[in-house]
Amino acid sequence: MDILPITPHLGAEVIGVDLSQPLSNEDFSAVHQAFLDWSVLVFRDQQLDKDQHKNFARKFGKLHVHPMYKQRTEHPEVLIVKTTADSAYTAGDGWHTDVTCDEFPPMGSMLYVTETPECGGGDTLFADMYLAYDLLSDEMKRMLEGLTAVHDGAIPYVGSYKSVPPEGGYPRNEHPVVVTHPETQRKVLYVNSGFTSHIKGLKPNESRAILEMLYRHISATPRLVARVQWQPNTLTFWDNRCTQHHAVWDYYPHSRYGERVSIIADTRPAA
Ligand code: SIN
Repeated sequence: MDILPITPHLGAEVIGVDLSQPLSNEDFSAVHQAFLDWSVLVFRDQQLDKDQHKNFARKFGKLHVHPMYKQRTEHPEVLIVKTTADSAYTAGDGWHTDVTCDEFPPMGSMLYVTETPECGGGDTLFADMYLAYDLLSDEMKRMLEGLTAVHDGAIPYVGSYKSVPPEGGYPRNEHPVVVTHPETQRKVLYVNSGFTSHIKGLKPNESRAILEMLYRHISATPRLVARVQWQPNTLTFWDNRCTQHHAVWDYYPHSRYGERVSIIADTRPAA
């Protein structure tokens, strides 16, 4: 197995693994270590059906069912990520971390793209939230460390995607603004413009100002970012505990199709 970094700190292509086959313990350990080292792993030329995709994901934990999922199908854990000329939006078209409104948000997500736009484009940007935290001043780190933020599923799912909430509403949960990655023990900036509604205990204008400053820090710091260019049959596996991502919808009216499987974290995000 070869690991080819995409940037010096975030993202790597993994060469020489066939994800349709069960991984040996040795290969699993190497993929797991690469996941911790690079946070975003790209596997090209994979031929996977839904069961093989889920089997690979299950190596990392229990599978997640998306809160917007409604139909009864054979594969409720497979989220279809499809954009066509008729789409009103493309999923994930803004900086976010997947489903942080959940009490136990997904630790990772695996998107398997089988159709890329004819005109090119449709890349996904990833941002390194370890580095986003590290680049803050010591004073700002100290201030953020005691704070807790509210993450609300209604923001994207109702506000952006106009879906009808399930009975009882979409999940809404609190997580620390700075969390510790449970495996690497490194600190991570853990607020995102997709889901975070406000910081608890602050006045609305204070919360808004701090969140806007942090979101600007993410969007205005190119060195945080790795860009994944998809080819048909690419699977990308990202660590939601230390990254954000942004789908780029630059290919209208062309189409793109992928299937995403996410893995539930077995611990809540914690400081
Ligand atoms: C997502 O947010 O999971 C979608 C990412 C993408 O389609 O590139």
